[in-house]
Amino acid sequence: MDKKEALTKLKEEIEKDKTLPLREEATRLVFGEGSPDSEIYCLGEAPGFHEDQQGRPFVGQAGQLLNKTLELIGLKREDVYISNVVRFRPPQNRDPLPEEIAAFQPYVDQEIEIINPKIIVTLGRFSMNKFLPGEFISKIHGKPRVVKWHGKDVTIVPMYHPAAALRAGAVMQQFKEDFQSLPQFLKDLDKEEEKETKPEQMELV
Ligand code: URA
Repeated sequence: MDKKEALTKLKEEIEKDKTLPLREEATRLVFGEGSPDSEIYCLGEAPGFHEDQQGRPFVGQAGQLLNKTLELIGLKREDVYISNVVRFRPPQNRDPLPEEIAAFQPYVDQEIEIINPKIIVTLGRFSMNKFLPGEFISKIHGKPRVVKWHGKDVTIVPMYHPAAALRAGAVMQQFKEDFQSLPQFLKDLDKEEEKETKPEQMELV
């Protein structure tokens, strides 16, 4: 099964899972979207009004800022994969509850396993706390951290949520600066990978 098929199957599973919270209040499921082959997986919080209307993540004002910020580093929205920790809109856009995040977690984990990204960009504290519990975004934003995730090293880059950037000029500045470091983080990871694979290649010669 290729990545696209695996994602379609995962989406169908979520559609069928009647135990999931928030379903009754929401208009529709908001599944992840973007390139399944991307090295970058962006994880937000929960759908808002526009996402709930359209069934697509990050399509409101926060999404427009995310698109523009990706363009600053030469990426189109379609070049990355974009998703959320919670897949139905919480009523009145309230914060998702810990038990709601926990209910969606197995699906988020499966999605990450399918995409198998090099970098997970967490947008806001809810997705950051999935990988880095107890941390504060104001302290660690823009700083990559390697964590063991399902037995594998993955680089987490915690970013402010774009909605927070829209609320405060200083956060906006940081948000953009943090994104501008992403290409270098990817290059560093590629270099490390090269170092790891080189000895094997030499043996083959
Ligand atoms: N905020 C999020 O965290 N996710 C969305 O999809 C939209 C706004």
